[in-house]
Parts: sequence; C-alpha cells; structure tokens
Amino acid sequence: MNIAVFASGNGSNFQAIADAVKEGRLKADIKLLVCDKPEAGVVERASQAGVPVFCFRPKSYENKAAFEKEIVEELESRQVEIIALAGYMRLIGDTLLHAFDRRIVNIHPSLLPAFQGKDAIGQAWKAGVKVTGVTIHWVDAGIDTGEIIAQQPIDIKESDSLRSLTAAIQAEEHRLYPDTLQRLTSSISRRESEKI
Ligand code: GRF
Repeated sequence: MNIAVFASGNGSNFQAIADAVKEGRLKADIKLLVCDKPEAGVVERASQAGVPVFCFRPKSYENKAAFEKEIVEELESRQVEIIALAGYMRLIGDTLLHAFDRRIVNIHPSLLPAFQGKDAIGQAWKAGVKVTGVTIHWVDAGIDTGEIIAQQPIDIKESDSLRSLTAAIQAEEHRLYPDTLQRLTSSISRRESEKI
C-alpha cells in the first residue's frame, strides 16, 4: 500500500509511522511527505527516513485549489492510495477530497466528537473531564467531523498535569496510528483482490 503523510509541525506521528514501516509492523511504503511549512521539524525527520518531501508555501499560490491541484499531481505520479494527516494544520479542500474520496484519514487528540479543532488536549484539560483520548477518522469537508475509524480512551488521573496528559496522549497516538493504518491497508488490499 502506498501512503502519503501530511504534516505541519514536529512530526512525532510521522516518525511513529516511519518506524512502524521500517520495523515491518506497517506494510506500506511512505511515498511522500507533504508539508505546508518548509521550516517544520517533520521535514528533517522525513529526510532522515529517506522519504521524499513536497513542501510548499500556501501564500505563494492564488488559492487552496491551486496548491491542492499540485499536491494531487504529486500524489498521483507516485501512485499514492491513502493519505494520513498527522498534524496537518489546514482544512482539506474540494480538490483533494474529490481526488481522494474516502482515502484520507486524520488523527485527533480527543475522543471525538468532543473537543474538535485546535488545542484539543488543552480544551479537555480546561473542561475538567475525567476521560479523553485519541480518535482516528475519515476526513470530510468539516473540522474533525468525518466517520470514526478507531478510538482509544485515556483516563485523566488526579495526579496528572497538562504535560503528563499530553505525553500520555502522544504515546497512545504513536501506537494507535500505525496499528490502524495497518488494519486499513489490509482491508483495502482484501477489497482490491476480491475485485480481481
Ligand atoms: C497530534 O497530536 C495529532 O493528533 C494532531 O496534531 C498533533 C501532531 O503532532 N492532529 P506531531 O507533529 O505528530 O508530533
């Protein structure tokens, strides 16, 4: 299965996916990292992992459709089948959604539909909930609204701080994302071979 990862920041989830591929836990090829912030830490992680990078500056394009068209060309030329968003801080537009219908997944650090949007861990912390977690979902035109694929709850303990909660959520993300991508790639491969 050929996948692309989209990210804008540090890239710890990119790293977890790349490590899982290297260790054979995720049977996929990362064909491309797409990044809208050339200075982001994830770019260095990709070059260390030998993954090609497509970086762009959104402001140098006329509009979202213009840069997404270029991204689609990059993805199609590499036969990418699944896109994994991993901290990509942009709403996916129609151009990408149509080209990769039901083939884009996202990871979000809360139990959706609770705490959509930015700073989900901080939102949960401020709300004083006792349970939060991690969600992986299909991407649609909304912000963190697509159909849920997998969820893992995480208890917030009396002894937790925002920092320790963030660390617990990130550790869970790094386990759940590669595992879920592996499950998805096997079920998609099964579906494809049944067509033959
Ligand atoms: C993760 O918490 C992910 O759930 C959210 O953005 C964050 C990205 O972190 N969508 P990193 O860049 O992978 O470290």
